Amino acid sequence: MRRLIPAVALLTLACGGPAPDAPPPEAPPADTVTVGERVPFPFATLIETAPVPLLAGGEIGVSAAVCGGCHTDIAAEWQASTHAQAMADGQYLAELAKPNNPRWLCLSCHRPLQAQAAVRQQPGSLLLGAHERSVGALAAKANPGHQPALIHEAITCATCHVRVASDGRGTILGPRGDTTSPHRVTVDRPGLHGVCERCHTPGTGHLTPSFACWFETHGELAAGPQRDRDCVDCHMPTATRPLAAGGPVRTTRRHTWAGGGVPKRFADYSTLLARGWKPGITVQVDRPEAEGAGWRVAITLENTHGGHAVPTGDPERHLRIIARTGSHRWQQHLGQVWDWGDDATGRPARRLTDTRLRPGERRTLVAHLPARPAADVVVEVAHVRLSPENLRHARGATLDAELKALRPQAQAVVAELERHYPTFTWIHRTRWAPGAATPIIVPLAELLAESAQPRALTTLDATLGTGVAATP
Ligand code: HEC
Ligand code: HEC
Ligand code: HEC
Ligand code: HEC
Ligand code: HEC
Repeated sequence: MRRLIPAVALLTLACGGPAPDAPPPEAPPADTVTVGERVPFPFATLIETAPVPLLAGGEIGVSAAVCGGCHTDIAAEWQASTHAQAMADGQYLAELAKPNNPRWLCLSCHRPLQAQAAVRQQPGSLLLGAHERSVGALAAKANPGHQPALIHEAITCATCHVRVASDGRGTILGPRGDTTSPHRVTVDRPGLHGVCERCHTPGTGHLTPSFACWFETHGELAAGPQRDRDCVDCHMPTATRPLAAGGPVRTTRRHTWAGGGVPKRFADYSTLLARGWKPGITVQVDRPEAEGAGWRVAITLENTHGGHAVPTGDPERHLRIIARTGSHRWQQHLGQVWDWGDDATGRPARRLTDTRLRPGERRTLVAHLPARPAADVVVEVAHVRLSPENLRHARGATLDAELKALRPQAQAVVAELERHYPTFTWIHRTRWAPGAATPIIVPLAELLAESAQPRALTTLDATLGTGVAATP
């Protein structure tokens, strides 16, 4: 989760606090408060890991580089996934650069291992403490187990797979138990499948008035017709292959996590379909009907494949539905609209409207175009992750040394974010030529090739249209 414009903030969640048998927390330094006493965040307790014993003696570390030595295919999939890029994301870097940003909190999901944290956090509880005046800064307390190189692995293998067993050494959570692995394995399929919730549905609520946490993906799935499936069913498709180099062929899960179809790098468009991506919605555009001097076009959208709302996740994600002919244009925004609140007056952030497509929902929109020039009527749908307005805002960020270390040329990347970071993807386009009996539906591969071309900011404005109001 994140905020775009507002200044200071955090979020709150029901539950959390110290586990019943956790050791008593260390006393925080005098000038800090233990935020856990005020706002428990289950996800903000960083994950503890330890080296994993090898059955033949010795042990292995928890870096993806180590796992990838044997699990080559899975490691390559992970490396190309959004999870591996969660610390190098240009938009994320820009947002972390905001003054008073609760950076520790963002990090607790984007690189959640204790070993990735320079500042030590309490096991079984929340973090050590935060300065009362600035929720953005952690009280400094060195972490002796810190492995700086792991930071770049972001959401790495160990995030989901490595836990500390009762003997204090590491163990690898596996779904199967029928393998001949050289390392210790604890079979826990439900635990592995449940790991997504920690970050993708941390709860809903406020920490400060202007900082709201509002990811509801699991709840959306549970309320929809595909409630019998889980995140892994759709986001980790199966592949028949050895799960470790040289091992027997098995039915395994691909670690691709294709999501909304807007990859983190332009180069990743070319592999999107192979990584298992498909749009959540299907679109049908009826033949335009004459209406006065113009056209009336019925556009039916159905959330067929997204088990949850489309879009889900980040509240800025939305669909833009555009109908155009000649120079005339109609458009609509399907997404969430928020009032981000005000810390000074205590006005809490709240969602004003939510026009996303619920799972299974079918909805018909009617576009009105004021004229009938001798031109095609084109209806297109874009999945927008970052609007041109907020892209401009992000470009202005000044990164500090810690952020600059996260990616080569980080400041230059942020300053020209639109050249490095895809902000939207065309997911549908239908063309009705005047008088035609059937429309042309542009193949998805063609739309992706077009989306893979970086656009200048001014072109982005013209393509998506500025100031598009959400329909209530
Ligand atoms: C509770 C876990 C959690 C915390 C805390 C968190 N995030 Fe995220 N973040 C996620 C998840 C899950 C996604 C993927 C959802 C999506 O992309 O829509 C994500 C996606 C993002 C994205 C990409 C958005 C997109 O649409 O691709 C950015 C940028 C981001 N987070 C920034 C931040 C910042 C800045 C903070 C701190 C203010 C933060 N996050 C805190 C879990 C978290
Ligand atoms: C975001 C969580 C997550 C991350 C990160 C992750 N995995 Fe997995 N992994 C899973 C889940 C969930 C399953 C279980 C799928 C199932 O039920 O078959 C799994 C299954 C596996 C399996 C068992 C074979 C299979 O495909 O079912 C292996 C081996 C594996 N992962 C290795 C890795 C390695 C190596 C990395 C890092 C390069 C990694 N995983 C990163 C969640 C993750
Ligand atoms: C020295 C090679 C090697 C390394 C290093 C290694 N693995 Fe494995 N792992 C294997 C082999 C071999 C298997 C079993 C293959 C089979 O029987 O199909 C296995 C099995 C697994 C399984 C499935 C266990 C089950 O029964 O469900 C998971 C999950 C897994 N490894 C994850 C990891 C992770 C995460 C790391 C890094 C922390 C890692 N492995 C490091 C070789 C390795
Ligand atoms: C430790 C926190 C964490 C866990 C656990 C986690 N995710 Fe994520 N996930 C994220 C973050 C953060 C992002 C976005 C990173 C970014 O945009 O830079 C993300 C991105 C994604 C995306 C890609 C969204 C897009 O449009 O690119 C999918 C799909 C996804 N996660 C599914 C899963 C599934 C399925 C699981 C469980 C097996 C899982 N995640 C576990 C934090 C997590
Ligand atoms: C029935 C299949 C299905 C299930 C189950 C499912 N997803 Fe998705 N998910 C999709 C599809 C399809 C998309 C692409 C939606 C689109 O076009 O934007 C998607 C997109 C996403 C995105 C990117 C944001 C977006 O809306 O595009 C995230 C993050 C995500 N899913 C997380 C999850 C998590 C977490 C779970 C488990 C609670 C889950 N998904 C369960 C099919 C599924």
